[in-house]
Amino acid sequence: MAVDLSVEVGSLKLANPILAASGTFGYGLEFAHLIDLNRLGGFVVKGLSLEPIEGAPAPRLCETPSGMLNAVGLQNVGVRAFVAEKLPSLRQFRTAVIANIFGTSVDEYVEVIRVLEDAEGLAAYELNISCPNVKKGGMQYGTDPVLTAEVVSASRKVSRRPLWVKLSPLVTDITAIAVAAVDSGADALTVANTYPAMAVDAVTRKSRLGSITGGLSGPAIKPLTLRLVHLVSRAVKVPVIGLGGIECATDVCEYLLVGASAVQVGTSSFVDPRAILHLVDSLEKRCADVNISKMSELRGALGT
Ligand SMILES: Cc1cc2nc3c(=O)[nH]c(=O)nc-3n(C[C@H](O)[C@H](O)[C@H](O)COP(=O)(O)O)c2cc1C
Repeated sequence: MAVDLSVEVGSLKLANPILAASGTFGYGLEFAHLIDLNRLGGFVVKGLSLEPIEGAPAPRLCETPSGMLNAVGLQNVGVRAFVAEKLPSLRQFRTAVIANIFGTSVDEYVEVIRVLEDAEGLAAYELNISCPNVKKGGMQYGTDPVLTAEVVSASRKVSRRPLWVKLSPLVTDITAIAVAAVDSGADALTVANTYPAMAVDAVTRKSRLGSITGGLSGPAIKPLTLRLVHLVSRAVKVPVIGLGGIECATDVCEYLLVGASAVQVGTSSFVDPRAILHLVDSLEKRCADVNISKMSELRGALGT
């Protein structure tokens, strides 16, 4: 049976619902010799800031039961080097390339987008709002609806491309943040980022991460984030992109069933750099096996 895996995220049409998640897929180019990037729904590049960032001290990663902790410290080449050195090579691919963006002030977010607006080859922006606002005492943009509205509306004003907003999972009421982002112009919401966490080596009595604390990802977080996608999908009318702990086609279906239009895959690429491509193949096979011919049959089809 023929399965049409294509999906729409707002005005953006994707060949299939599976994208690589920011920070776990480099700038995409690092994977080009391993997999055919054109077969992905798309990929989100490592978070870009106005100036290059060297990142956090080692160790930056550690395994935890059913998960992984990271504290990379948002290392990146900076938006201008991305445009000059990475984007020209990325333009040869047909797949959707999404730029993940962050800053420590509204002006910084806006400036990063302005630099990208002058360049061709991007399908959308994804705002990472899990960053501290240095002007407002370090409170994260994504933990307060007023700050969320401020950064999203300023970004919206300078963007001609679709604007996705990636939410933080560690908030009291994620729907309040989701509604604030959509009311301020978000075209889609990405749910969600990693969960603040830590791991300790009881022998050395040290944290297992150079930055002491980090973000938890992988299968351990899937039930938590699945619930958030369920809540957000019911609170807003824009498409939701779900991610957290996806390892197999069944996981993808679960996210679609609770309302996601597409998904992203992060930690699985650390286990196997070809995992994301295997997922595209196995999703197609799984759908054919159970007579699902298009993704809209799954989206939001959670039974009561
Ligand atoms: C090593 C690493 C680096 C990450 N860097 C970013 C980043 O730069 N920007 C961002 O929005 N999310 C970043 N994330 C979060 C992932 O994109 C994703 O939201 C999270 O890992 C949950 O998905 P997963 O369980 O499939 O990994 C990073 C995650 C990891 C593991």
